[in-house]
Amino acid sequence: MEIRDLAVHDDDQLREWWEVEQAAHRHDRAHPVLRTLDSLAFSLRNPSPHSRREPLAALVDGRIVGVADLTLLVGDNEHVAELEVSVHPGHRRRGVGRALLAEATRRRREQGRTGDFGEVCTPVDGPVSPALAFARALGYDDAHGEHHLVLELPADPERVAALAAGAPDGYDVVTWGNRCPDDLLDDYVTMRNRMNADVPLGDVDYVPPVMDRERVRLSEERLARTYDTVVAAARRREDGVLGGYSLTYLAHGSSVAFQDDTLVMPGHRGHRLGLALKLATLEIVRRDHPDRTAYHTWTDPQNHAMYRTNERFGYRPVEVMREMQVRDRAL
Ligand SMILES: CC(C)(COP(=O)(O)OP(=O)(O)OC[C@H]1O[C@@H](n2cnc3c(N)ncnc32)[C@H](O)[C@@H]1OP(=O)(O)O)[C@@H](O)C(=O)NCCC(=O)NCCS
Repeated sequence: MEIRDLAVHDDDQLREWWEVEQAAHRHDRAHPVLRTLDSLAFSLRNPSPHSRREPLAALVDGRIVGVADLTLLVGDNEHVAELEVSVHPGHRRRGVGRALLAEATRRRREQGRTGDFGEVCTPVDGPVSPALAFARALGYDDAHGEHHLVLELPADPERVAALAAGAPDGYDVVTWGNRCPDDLLDDYVTMRNRMNADVPLGDVDYVPPVMDRERVRLSEERLARTYDTVVAAARRREDGVLGGYSLTYLAHGSSVAFQDDTLVMPGHRGHRLGLALKLATLEIVRRDHPDRTAYHTWTDPQNHAMYRTNERFGYRPVEVMREMQVRDRAL
């Protein structure tokens, strides 16, 4: 076996790398949300100023059988790395994963990173997945967990209508797509930072970056290359202040939508805004993207308010996503 850097500008090699990642996840998971080839190609060929990517490929007889995606964050969190390892189902338990992980670890250490973390998924009830068994065997600790929830689309219209009956007073729901309107940008940046500060990360040794106008705009421009974004925000009528938002991404060419952030700002809680915002994005997905067959989201089961809201829509847990982390011992 040989481990090489992926030649990111070689279309055939990139496709082969992506196909191995797809096959590995589809084999083990019933509801994976996977990046499209276009999205992978764009992100590797046009690196963000905030991260450095070092994708690796393990080859046997000239074919890629395993892949590692090593990301070194730049500007923030320069003490750690993010890592995902995937091995084709036909080449498991032969040390391919272990070899990829060893090479990625050597590289991150060489660049002064003292630990790494990555996501693994495992059934809610049932046997431990290969990914979780692998991470544990190689010394990773469980740093945080969330349930991955799925709502099949189209959602049940009666259920949605019953939820819509309780829309909040005193707020308008405003929506936009890939670019936040200029006049709402400052409030949006404030909410994005609040979300980053509030989002539960467990023991993950990572501090979410502070966003500013430029960073939000850069992120919007990069995402728009391979995703459609839907944002719903709640604007208080009496003063025009934004009190919460919910963010959905739809990869071009994919059949699913996924809900990322949903936040209600502290002074605006208790008005069922989270529910109203999720309803608004659900309606836009129904109207503008009728091809989507499922809506995905991730929620910490301890976050009772959000979990309950998701259940009311009909979301059900399909797996547990665990953030696994390893830290080098001080010498
Ligand atoms: C996790 C994964 C990368 C492991 O790849 P692999 O090449 O089979 O791993 P290795 O052969 O190097 O296994 C190393 C050790 O991990 C543990 N391990 C790996 N798979 C296991 C399984 N199915 N059950 C129990 N232990 C397992 C074992 O201790 C193994 O050592 P051993 O074979 O000497 O007993 C692979 O199963 C995979 O691609 N899964 C889906 C993708 C994914 O979720 N990746 C995220 C993980 S970071």
